[in-house]
Order: sequence, then structure tokens, then C-alpha cells
Amino acid sequence: MMKFQLVVSAASLIVGSTAFVAPNTASQRSSTTHLDMSAALIVQNKGGGHGELGYQLAKALTDHEKITSITILQDDACNDEKEPFKSYSSDLPDVKVVKAPLSSGDSMTSADVKSLLGDATFEYIWDNCSKGAEGSGKAICDCAKDWGVKLLTYVSSAGMYQPDDDTTFPMPETTPIKETSGQAQYDAYAVELGLPLVSFRPQYIYGEKSNKHDYIDWYFHRLVRELPLPIPENGTQKVSLTNSKDVARLLIAPLDNEEAAVEQRFFNCGNDKLYSYDEVAYMCAEAAGIAKENVMIEHYDSELYGKAYFPFRLTNFYVAPDMAKEKLGYTGSQCDLAEDLKWYYQGFNDRGGIDEKIPLIKDAEITVLSITRFEVGSIYDKWDPIPMDWSEVQELGIEAGWMEEEDDISIN
Ligand SMILES: *[C@@H]1O[C@H](CO)[C@@H](O)[C@H](O)[C@H]1NC(C)=O
Ligand SMILES: *[C@@H]1O[C@H](CO)[C@@H](O)[C@H](O)[C@H]1NC(C)=O
Repeated sequence: MMKFQLVVSAASLIVGSTAFVAPNTASQRSSTTHLDMSAALIVQNKGGGHGELGYQLAKALTDHEKITSITILQDDACNDEKEPFKSYSSDLPDVKVVKAPLSSGDSMTSADVKSLLGDATFEYIWDNCSKGAEGSGKAICDCAKDWGVKLLTYVSSAGMYQPDDDTTFPMPETTPIKETSGQAQYDAYAVELGLPLVSFRPQYIYGEKSNKHDYIDWYFHRLVRELPLPIPENGTQKVSLTNSKDVARLLIAPLDNEEAAVEQRFFNCGNDKLYSYDEVAYMCAEAAGIAKENVMIEHYDSELYGKAYFPFRLTNFYVAPDMAKEKLGYTGSQCDLAEDLKWYYQGFNDRGGIDEKIPLIKDAEITVLSITRFEVGSIYDKWDPIPMDWSEVQELGIEAGWMEEEDDISIN
């Protein structure tokens, strides 16, 4: 009698544990009935910048036990021939993709969005598309309100910060922002509606399936041509370059602590491993198999020559994910820039690498005037043979070299 009872309870234990485990596996998810269904909606822009965030988010959410279904509401202006969009069906088989004219959606209403989504409702939204609180942006917020979402997570931008003399680095979430930016207006509208908004402010992102490469390419383009790298000031300014996989991990971190996330609301989003502008140069050189002593960094005075083609800010302008670590239990980046630069360099070559035609005239202006180490004209002639009257170079350098970054917030 005793033995029989033992067998029965062991069997029921197995049944119980199977039922418990099942919701965690994607294939069984749809066929398992939950008391607690949590549908995730990712609103994704058309790319051109970091269109891969939605893709990485969907991948990260696929493994998340809290999420039972994933839908991407995709701006239909995206190019389906390009990454990451062409990988949606092969890499995200369980994700439903719905196309919508979001970037031309000035008159789009919440009713339009709901009907596009077949009147489904969602508990969690990640918005990496809306540019402001009008049109499709307003419609997404209004839907969130009607659905009573648990979290509306917005991918904003650290580019909205306007550091002043009191700002310390990494910039805290309390750094003054450009209130008129579309992102700030989206935040304000969501708060006005009383939504559980969590707004992340990322910086420079790189990643597989990205379609934005200009920051890191700047370094490789000069290194592979054995040209100097004109880096402003003394090159100790730091930069947060973050793999989109780590960005996605940060963006889903609020799921682990929803209350604390909404309470804090604004989170910087970046790599906790920061490197200086010069260090990035040496790391890129190493990835390209170029010896350190062959790296020609030329520090220059930005008051004289401006930004030229340099991809980052002239002065320090970086954030770190300290708040997400403290409030959300985020454990920091898993990707390593030095490692990632190896595959990045492959991609750089595949995209054209040394054969790509790139403008170098501003580099030449800086180096010819600030250095006398070599025959500057001749080294640039090989790559960018623009006829130059060197006697007028100084004037050009001062006038054309300076580029304001005021309206640059979408670049992060
Ligand atoms: C999506 O995130 C990336 C990275 O911050 C950003 O470049 C892009 O502007 C975001 N899209 C939005 C909010 O439209
Ligand atoms: C680099 O420049 C910054 C800003 O002027 C300064 O604070 C720092 O001490 C300099 N570092 C070195 C190593 O020269």
C-alpha cells in the first residue's frame, strides 16, 4: 500500500513539473493556457540607423519567461531586402510581424493601430519607432492607455542631454535635456496619460545586422589606408559603444523589477566598459592586425579645426548604465568591444573597406596645418585626389571644419 502511494505521488510530481516547465519553451508556449498571458508588442522603425534593436529585443524576449507572445509592429518603409528585416522570418519564427505606415503616420489614430493589430491587446510595449507625441507616436501611447499596459518602454536617446558646466561624467539621468526634442515630448505625453513609462537613453550602438557603421568605420577607414587619425584635443574623452544585444538586455531589464523601473522612469543605456577615443583607435588597429607603433594619432585643437569628420563629440559626452544596475539588477555588458571589433572588421571589409571612396579633405586640412611630420599632400592624393590650393587651406579649415551638433539627437 505504502509503495503504491509513493509511485503515484512521484508520477504526479513529474506531471506537475512538466506543466510548470512547458511555458518556458517557445514551441509549447502557444498551446499552453496561461492564467497570466503577457503579450509583447515591439514598435520598430524603418532602420537606416539601428533597425536591429527590434530584432535583438524580439530575440531576448523569446527566452523570457514572462512573455507569452511577441508581435513586431514594423514601419513598412523598411527595406525588406536589408538586415535585420530580411532575417525576421528565418530568425524569429515565433514572432508575428505586422507592417504599418508608421513614419508617414501623421494622421494615424489609436483606432488605426488597433485595427492593424487585429484588435489584439498587449501587456508590454517597447517603442523604438515614435519620434514624438503626434501621429503614430500619440497613437501608440493612446493604445497603451486603452490596453492598460504593465510597461511602456521607450527607446529614447542620450543625444537629448545638454550638459552644462556642472555636469559630471558619466552624465546622470538628471542632466539637463533638450525639452523640445520629439523624444522628450513623447516622454511628457506618456507621463501625462499616467502610463507606466520607462524611458531608456542609449548612446552609440553597434551590432550585427545593423545598418549604421559610420562611428567605428571612421577609425578603420584611416587605419587600413595608413593615414593619420585626427582626434580632437588629447583623445582621453570617453565613449560608450554598446552592442545592440546588450542594449536589448537593458531594455528588457524592467521586466525583472517593474515597480522600481516605473518609479525611476529614466535610465541611461550604455556599456559599462568605457574607452577613450585613443583607446578605440588602438583596439581597432589590433582587430585589423596593425601594430600599435604604426597607428598615427594626431591630436588637434578643435577650436581651430572643428569636428571635421570625427564621429563623436569633441568633449566628453558619455553615459553608463549605473542606474539600471542599481534599480533593475542589470549585470552589465556581456559583449566585449575588443572581441566584437574582430567580426566588425570583417564586416567593414565586406562592405567595401579600403575600396570605398571616402572624403578626406578635412583630415588633410587638419594634418597639413597641425603637423609637419610628412608630405601630407601626397598621402591623401592616393585616396581623395581633390585638387587643393594649399595656400588657402587655413581659411577653409576654420570655416568649413566646424559642424554644429545641435540637431543631432537621433544619432545618440
Ligand atoms: C531606436 O533606437 C536607436 C538607438 O537609440 C535610435 O537610433 C533610434 O532613433 C530609435 N528609434 C526611435 C525612438 O525612433
Ligand atoms: C586631457 O584633456 C582634459 C580636458 O582638457 C584634461 O582634463 C585632462 O587632464 C587631459 N589629460 C591628459 C592625459 O592630458
